[in-house]
Order: sequence, then C-alpha cells, then structure tokens
Amino acid sequence: PIFPVILSGGVGSRLWPISRVSRPKQLLPLCSDHSMLVETALRLSGMPPIVVCSHAHRFMLGEQMRAADIHPQAILLEPMGRNTAAAVAVAAHCALEADPQALLLVMPSDHVIMDTASFRDAVATAAPAAAQGRMVTFGITPTRPETGYGYIKHAAPLPGLDGVLAVDSFVEKPDAETAARYLADGGYVWNAGIFLFSARGVLDELARHAPSVFEATNRAWDAAERDFDFLHLAADAFAACPSVSVDVALMEKTDKAAVVPVDMGWSDVGAWDTLWEIGAKDEGGNVLVGDVVSEDLRNSYVRSEGGRLIAVIGLADVVVVGTDDAVLVTDRAHAQDVKKLVDRMHSEG
Ligand code: GDD
Ligand code: MG
Repeated sequence: PIFPVILSGGVGSRLWPISRVSRPKQLLPLCSDHSMLVETALRLSGMPPIVVCSHAHRFMLGEQMRAADIHPQAILLEPMGRNTAAAVAVAAHCALEADPQALLLVMPSDHVIMDTASFRDAVATAAPAAAQGRMVTFGITPTRPETGYGYIKHAAPLPGLDGVLAVDSFVEKPDAETAARYLADGGYVWNAGIFLFSARGVLDELARHAPSVFEATNRAWDAAERDFDFLHLAADAFAACPSVSVDVALMEKTDKAAVVPVDMGWSDVGAWDTLWEIGAKDEGGNVLVGDVVSEDLRNSYVRSEGGRLIAVIGLADVVVVGTDDAVLVTDRAHAQDVKKLVDRMHSEG
C-alpha cells in the first residue's frame, strides 16, 4: 500500500516575479495549464495523495485540487514552515493511521517529470526494498556540478532486489569544488528529492537520528485539530520542531539508504533558466509565453503575465519576465541570482 505524499512548502523565490510568498511556484501553472502541484498529483494515476502544506495556502490548494477532480487522502496544514523532515514525519503518522504497513512515496510539488511511465516503473522497483525497511531514493545521472542537489555514491546492487543499489554515502548540497570532484570521479547520482520509505521505518529512523524532530512532530500530530478536509497541526508543538531537511536529518545519517537509478526526464524547476531549457522553443530557440513580441531574439525566455505586452529586440540568452507590478531582466547565466535579489528586497522591506 503506497501513500503518495506531496510536499508543498517551498517559496520558489528564484522564480520571482511570478512566484510570490502568497502564490508560490508550486501553485502556479508554470509548465502547463495545471499548477505544478496538480501535475504532481495527476502523475499518480488516481492514488489520493497526502498533501503537506502551509496553513496560509490551504484555500488556494483546496480549490486547485477540487478543480482538477483530485481528492486528497488528507491535507496537513503547517502553522509555519519547519522544512521537510517535519513534513515527512507528520505524513508518516497520517499514513500509519490508515495502514500500519504503509509505504510513503514522498514527492516535491515543484518538479517536472516528462516520462511518467519510467517514474512509475521506478517506484514499483523500489517498493520491495522499502517494504524491507530501506530508505529508497531515486537517482538521476548528473550533467553538471550543481551545488543545489544531494549526491549519492552508489554501491553494489542489493541481493534479491532487482534495480536497487546500496548507498555508499549521501551528501546534501556539496560545495562547488566537491560537486566537481564527484562529477569527475563518477559513480554518483543526484538525489531526485523523491523517496519511498515505510511510514513506520521513517519514524524509527527519525527517532534515532533526529529525536527532537521526532518528538516535536509526535506532539504536533497528537494534538492536531481536524476540520473537514484539513488537519491543523498543533502550533506550539510544531513551532518547537527544528527546521531541518529530510536529506540532512535522515538520508545523510541512515545506514538503510538505497537508490533506484532512473531516467525519467526529471527536472527541478528551480529557476528561469530551467523553464527555458524544458520549454517549447521557436526557430530562434526562444520560449515566449503570454503577450510577447520579438525581433532578432535568440535563446531567450520571455514571459508576460497580467496583460502587458513585452517587446524584446536584438538580444540573446536573456530572461525577461513581467507581471502587473514587476519586471525582471537578466541573462540566463544569472538566473540563480534572482533569489539573492529577492532576499535583499525582503530584508530591506
Ligand atoms: N510541506 C512542506 N513544508 N514542504 C516543504 C517545506 C516545508 O517546510 N520545505 C520545503 N518543502 C517542499 C518544497 O516545496 C519542495 O517541493 C520539496 O519540499 C523539497 O524542498 P526544497 O527546499 O525544494 O529542497 P531542495 O530543492 O533544496 O533539495 C531537495 O531536492 C533536490 C532535488 O530537487 C533535496 O532532496 C536534494 O537532495 C535534492 O537533490
Ligand atoms: Mg527544490
């Protein structure tokens, strides 16, 4: 029994000015007509997900689910963000209530997977390992020394578990030098940020490796309040939980990690350059979305939202994104730096 869990707590500040705190990227139709969160749920061939998200986004999320005819098993509301270890822990409690043998398929809400069939096959490959207590990750062949991902050094195949490899080490977000070395050495895959673990097993591992997360989330779950579709986690208890990712709290520490390498057209839609990479391009290599006209433009991403016409002439490798109240202009190579700018705007008010 697999219980899909969708994590929808990120802010997506590198996709400013479209992604905002009040409307984060996973709730926006960035890559198709559906929001990325709805796309994630639709990938599950009808299995009702457990969604873990911020209290602030509950109505937008509920409305999107209804409109797409998706009926979540539960919507767990976090009074404040406490990162992914906490979100996984409360989802594990929720699944265990329904089934003591539950397996959790934990998924980010903001990724693109082009090849859904390969994704489903990989999950099926991982299931027997997860049922034996393995913490299974999905491995993507790295193409650049990206520092924003987890790196998994894989080892020999696990006996009796076809397609599942043992894990030598898991390193979350290495520095640039280390990432370059991993790429040169070979034998590493990126952590796709998707996990399959037994609900009981993940709580046991959290109790061992991150006891303060385990205890705070136990209390937040036990004192949660149910209100129709929504489950409000208890604020005081949840607030006391350390903010730590499941990668750092668990995957770097556990000796039960395993990895299923998979080629599924995976992409972490982190910044505008990725939307250019995966978007449908015109003859000039441009991805143009909304009211946009261009002349002599190459390899660029231009997007207008809110009805304003954007005209771009004689440029290459740029990103221009305009909304009613803000315009971003940068070159593709600086797409990651949008976060810095947004952080500065927040701190300067
Ligand atoms: N509910 C909830 N609450 N969800 C959260 C929270 C939270 O406090 N924080 C993050 N999330 C959601 C995000 O919305 C995203 O869908 C997912 O959890 C992963 O969080 P990110 O913050 O995007 O993690 P990351 O991208 O830095 O790193 C993870 O993903 C990489 C692949 O994209 C790690 O798992 C890396 O190891 C991995 O390579
Ligand atoms: Mg991410």
